[in-house]
Amino acid sequence: MTARALDPLQLAGLELGNRFVKTATYEGLSPEGRVSDGLIAHHADQARHGVALTTVAYAAVHPSGRTFADQLLVTRDAGLDRLADAVHSAGGRVSLQLSHCGGFSKHRAGGRPMGPSFALNAYGLAYGLPFVRPMTPDDMAETAAAYAEAAAIAVDAGVDALELHCGHGYLLSQFLSPAINRRRDDYGGSLANRLRFPLEVVHAIRARVGEAVPLLAKINLHDGIRGATGDEAVPIARALVEAGVHAIVPSGGLVQRSAFYLLRGEVPLSDMVRAESSWLQRISMRILGPLLVRRFPYSSSFFREQARALVDAVDAPVGLLGGVDSAAAVREAMAQGFSFVVMGRALLADPDFIERMAAGEDVVSRCTHCNQCVARMDQGVACVLDLPQT
Ligand SMILES: Cc1cc2nc3c(=O)[nH]c(=O)nc-3n(C[C@H](O)[C@H](O)[C@H](O)COP(=O)(O)O)c2cc1C
Repeated sequence: MTARALDPLQLAGLELGNRFVKTATYEGLSPEGRVSDGLIAHHADQARHGVALTTVAYAAVHPSGRTFADQLLVTRDAGLDRLADAVHSAGGRVSLQLSHCGGFSKHRAGGRPMGPSFALNAYGLAYGLPFVRPMTPDDMAETAAAYAEAAAIAVDAGVDALELHCGHGYLLSQFLSPAINRRRDDYGGSLANRLRFPLEVVHAIRARVGEAVPLLAKINLHDGIRGATGDEAVPIARALVEAGVHAIVPSGGLVQRSAFYLLRGEVPLSDMVRAESSWLQRISMRILGPLLVRRFPYSSSFFREQARALVDAVDAPVGLLGGVDSAAAVREAMAQGFSFVVMGRALLADPDFIERMAAGEDVVSRCTHCNQCVARMDQGVACVLDLPQT
């Protein structure tokens, strides 16, 4: 029998009240890397409006793992316990997205950016971080240990689930992507080799926190660049599940090369330029942006056909992410065998989406995929339709 979106969902040992997951949308509400009252209110609100599992975006597992300052850094005194308590009091559960940016950084305090291979770090040029240094075995061991420590800190703070960020061109995605990983040792080349470090991270987390909480993995269906292999999502998902991941969240794209593959819709270049703090970066974005930033047209449930392959092939719940923007899209996801839906912009634009759907309304989100929420997310993520027009 097909599950309905308001049915409970069992994710390993965690029972969720329904099948609505709020995806990570960087909140811009963690000054100096710590949980703020605004961050707590944002996630408690999601829970209050019926989201069963709300995901705290981009929690860096190590000081070297932030793309820029003010991203959440997982430490014992970051305030995660207050956040978890507030979400629980609002009737929901909270997940933490464990992240590391690898070579994609403009955060000088994190040291020289490191990744699988030597490369130019175009994102960090204007910040004096022009190059990526290849990670050594010691770097990998230290970083895997940092993921495990961050997982333990989150579990101790009362966080209910963890999402390992293996997509979007961040560190684990850099290892998986043949376009970025050019290593000639056991960590590069074949898919088995490119998977080695992400799997070591999963094993390190599992060894540290056991089965205390479900571990989700956000992975790329495709990197969204020409020449990238597009047929590896199934073996990647299978290997992660075999290593101890409990659910898969399929996405796509590389933030540094195909950011709008994962979002689709408008490219708000002028707003992005305005939000950039370095004048040098602003100038280069203004000149190069129109040439380099590729557009991808938006459609409802834009990853559904690609993600559907995982539903049949992977022995774990698979969520549908990307353009889930109406009650009809939610119902169709359930009908096609996805175990849950993972929603971002539609819930930012329509926080009462789930309540209205539960009341029988055929909800259609008012999100216009203008993506201005992305351009201004550092100021506190919000739907621009709700902001005073200037
Ligand atoms: C403002 C904003 C910030 C985002 N920040 C993150 C992030 O920190 N981590 C992440 O994995 N994805 C991030 N994303 C991507 C979303 O998680 C999601 O993959 C994408 O928005 C597609 O889902 P949607 O169509 O439901 O919005 C962000 C998206 C938006 C709109």
